[in-house]
Amino acid sequence: MTANDVLHALGEAADTGNVIQSWNDSQALLPKGPLAPLREANWRAWREVCTFGDEVDGPLARTAAKIAGNEALRRLFWHLYWRLLLSPTAQPIADWPKLEKVLGEEGGVFYLLAALAVVPRIEANYARLGFPLANAHFTCQQVRHFCDDNYRRGNQGRIGLYDSNINWLRNYTERRYVRLGRLEYWLDPTPQNYTVFRHRRTGRVVALAAPGQRFDADGYLHTDSARYREGEGWTTTFALDETSATGYLLDPRGMGLDRQVTLSLADWECVLKKGDPVLQMHIPSGGGMGPEACRDSLLEARDFFRQYCPNEPVRAVTCASWIFSNLLETILPEDANLNCFLRELYLEPRPASGNDGLWFVFLQRGPIDFATAPRETSLQRRILAFLEAGGHWRHGGMFILFDDLDRYGSQVYRGGWSPDLPELRG
Ligand SMILES: CC(C)(COP(=O)(O)OP(=O)(O)OC[C@H]1O[C@@H](n2cnc3c(N)ncnc32)[C@H](O)[C@@H]1OP(=O)(O)O)[C@@H](O)C(=O)NCCC(=O)NCCS
Repeated sequence: MTANDVLHALGEAADTGNVIQSWNDSQALLPKGPLAPLREANWRAWREVCTFGDEVDGPLARTAAKIAGNEALRRLFWHLYWRLLLSPTAQPIADWPKLEKVLGEEGGVFYLLAALAVVPRIEANYARLGFPLANAHFTCQQVRHFCDDNYRRGNQGRIGLYDSNINWLRNYTERRYVRLGRLEYWLDPTPQNYTVFRHRRTGRVVALAAPGQRFDADGYLHTDSARYREGEGWTTTFALDETSATGYLLDPRGMGLDRQVTLSLADWECVLKKGDPVLQMHIPSGGGMGPEACRDSLLEARDFFRQYCPNEPVRAVTCASWIFSNLLETILPEDANLNCFLRELYLEPRPASGNDGLWFVFLQRGPIDFATAPRETSLQRRILAFLEAGGHWRHGGMFILFDDLDRYGSQVYRGGWSPDLPELRG
């Protein structure tokens, strides 16, 4: 059967999403017997590891039986499983069918069954890396979070997974990627091009912007050049040699400054630059981002990677997200969990498109539709009020250095900050 034969048999339109991609490759490997993720002993064990309760057993059992008993559905399921977890290179699925004609309201369970099969793949990756099995299993709970916090929220409480979430799972099977407490971390060289220095005597930290960035008059970056006004703002340069670094300051509160400085390397040590290994942080859904949870997770991450990746000179945690937009400091109450977090970090601006990351809050792609956007939570209502008043949304980035974690809670980067720091006077 071709991909379109299968889609036709399932009552779906020809050429739906990117189903056709690598179809022949997966079908050539289609097992004759039962597919592993459909075996009850497997999915039951895996859903327990992922911390699902037994209320999901009914939908999982029904859907597994329907897939096994329908040749077209079985072929499509194998194709999904192979693309997600078995193919030699990542093959993200996009805009796949909801399968309502064949599975009714349980179409999302088709995707969940494939997602649960991530469990043995994560276990194998962690065994290869020498990470403990307990950490593998703790990380696996993300499948349930994707289901409970995202899919159920957008689908009247039904179980399932969104394709954008399901694709993410492969990272856990290939990378040095682990959930520790409230947050997740991925060890990789930083692709970011800002450079961070610490004053050798006072310990003060400053970051200098990447070269060639066009800032607007307020110190922000945009993906759409129309957002810049002619004659306003500045474009950065950066130079580093054996004795000094010259570049444009980044304010730890999350904006660029039209202020060029030269740092003598006799006084300042370069502590983070492009390509250095960092822990890229990811923020799983689920609330509870209180100060202690954030601090404890960061400390656990420092200890974990020092123990299990001792040859990697990691010095920092970095992240980019809507969560690091300094707009939140005007949108949310001062004592909101996210604002407490922001005050502990060195924020840095990222090129903003106007709706970066808002999917995670509204589960809507593209520009927010004010007529249909959910207003169920205070977070949603406050962001919508900002947007409806004509506010331009932006996301942001952050870093925190391992050496500063022991002072978490003291606003180490912002405390006493000024663009006229004594350390910058030379
Ligand atoms: C948004 C988030 C970081 C908030 O953490 P937090 O500030 O500790 O959240 P709280 O538990 O204190 O909740 C604060 C409010 O936000 C709401 N909220 C939390 N997560 C939400 C989400 N993803 N979407 C919409 N509202 C959310 C809560 O319901 C609560 O609203 P209420 O006052 O009406 O009860 C986190 O809960 C989350 O789930 N984020 C989704 C994942 C994400 O965006 N990751 C980054 C990807 S780039």
